[in-house]
Amino acid sequence: MSQLLANVFPEESAIPDAFRITEAIEQREYLVNGEMKTWTGNLNPVLSPVFTKEGGTYKQKVIGSTPLLTSKEALEALDAAVKAYDLGQGLWPTLSVTERIEHVEKFLVAMRAQRATVVKLLMWEIGKSLKDSEKEFDRTCDYIVDTIKAYKDLDRNSAKLIEEQGFMAQIRRVPLGVSLCMGPYNYPLNETFTTLIPALIMGNTVVFKPAKFGVLLIRPLIEAFRDSFPPGVINIIYGKGRETVGALMETGKIDVFAFIGTNKGANDLKRLHPKPHRLKAILGLDAKNPAIVLPDADIDNAVTECITGSLSFNGQRCTALKIIFVHKAVVDSFIEKFNTQVKKLKPGMPWDSGVGLTPVPEPGKVEYLQELVADAKKHGANVVNENGGESLNSFFYPAVVYPVNKEMRLYYEEQFGPVVPIVPFDEDEEAIEYVLNSNFGQQVSIFGTDSRRIARLIDAFVNQMGRININAQSQRGPDTFPFNGRKDSAEGTLSIADALRVFSIRTLVSTKSTDENKHIISNIIRNRESAFLSTDYIF
Ligand code: G3H
Repeated sequence: MSQLLANVFPEESAIPDAFRITEAIEQREYLVNGEMKTWTGNLNPVLSPVFTKEGGTYKQKVIGSTPLLTSKEALEALDAAVKAYDLGQGLWPTLSVTERIEHVEKFLVAMRAQRATVVKLLMWEIGKSLKDSEKEFDRTCDYIVDTIKAYKDLDRNSAKLIEEQGFMAQIRRVPLGVSLCMGPYNYPLNETFTTLIPALIMGNTVVFKPAKFGVLLIRPLIEAFRDSFPPGVINIIYGKGRETVGALMETGKIDVFAFIGTNKGANDLKRLHPKPHRLKAILGLDAKNPAIVLPDADIDNAVTECITGSLSFNGQRCTALKIIFVHKAVVDSFIEKFNTQVKKLKPGMPWDSGVGLTPVPEPGKVEYLQELVADAKKHGANVVNENGGESLNSFFYPAVVYPVNKEMRLYYEEQFGPVVPIVPFDEDEEAIEYVLNSNFGQQVSIFGTDSRRIARLIDAFVNQMGRININAQSQRGPDTFPFNGRKDSAEGTLSIADALRVFSIRTLVSTKSTDENKHIISNIIRNRESAFLSTDYIF
């Protein structure tokens, strides 16, 4: 084992006091109908990707456990959400926009108070660095603030009657019903909340099941949810997906399915719903975003962007660059500069200052990455960076694999980890063909300076991808930009404003513009007789 790996995992005593978990956190609580319930059944252990050194051996940290609920508890949570929605007659879906916003604002205040606890758990549960964990928390709070603002704007635009072809009407967005929200383990807070908060604010009721990792970090927020929303509006369950969530889908009572994960997982769950036409799905799924480095690209910039694009959070981002096409004229210099930058990434624990590479949380992930690399080697590629592909326990040092070709699994499979496949190319058609034939369609990054050549690629990709990045890595932000994908990569579009739309539907009240009808409408508005038909302007 190289010295590099020998020093990755710490002795327990080397963990800073502020970040140490001295006692395992046994969580038995879950939230149903505004009540914090206590689970007395089996628990699911929470293993951290962090191992500690003890003498000559390594021990994986068990940092706690969470309830292994069954379908019975999941269905109780669903009943609570169904009751709170009450066929659209419940308190929450009929509450005014201003009042719903007040509930979300109350939640945000309580959530902010839990920042340090949530950040610490993000580090321990998924191995995200302190800096990125803080960023995830703060970005989520900003997202909530911006969602409130966007909802006010949306409502202001609806606070009027329109007249068209002898009709007058008021059009507003209303909730869809009961939402099931499930997030991914790589952004267990942020991505989950980018569906959960819009679902709630638009008046839907929710059953929320945390991701497979990054579960304990929701616990500090349960009281905030309980105290900020009316009973049954938000219900939080834990346990195995198939048993809990599968049971929910089979009832046919889920109206909205918001899921960020694999397309296989989404398909398996979607097909359990007995009336698929009644299920609205909002999905963020797999991706294999390519970078294309043209011969006239600014190589230093391309390398910098491809380093963060492929290796930030160890490549565990759905938006990560997962395959890099580099023109043969510049591939040698690209690889040399790329490897120099990889070497500067500091391996270590999430709380280590300046850390750039950390252990990965998925059991079996290191072995999977090793398999991909071995397969590529079998078909003629090499690991071309120093220490590339070395591993210890849950830590995998980035492997830059070159030259990658169509024979290799790395060409097609989403590695979701620190392996960087580099494909040399002569003709731009080779990269175009890759995108057109890919099962995925999230984003692509083009690096170059020749506007005509870039324009040609843009036009080749616009009907295949959700976003085309020029001289920049692929990414979700800014959160006001539309975030979506084609093929197996997504269903629906998210962004701060789009999320409000996907969790709602436009409904209108319309009448012929006769004097009598105008009189009725005018009375309703002036006397504030309807919550829907109203021209009140939110300040
Ligand atoms: O994992 C997918 C996330 O939406 C990526 O977000 O591009 O801001 O890291 P990001």
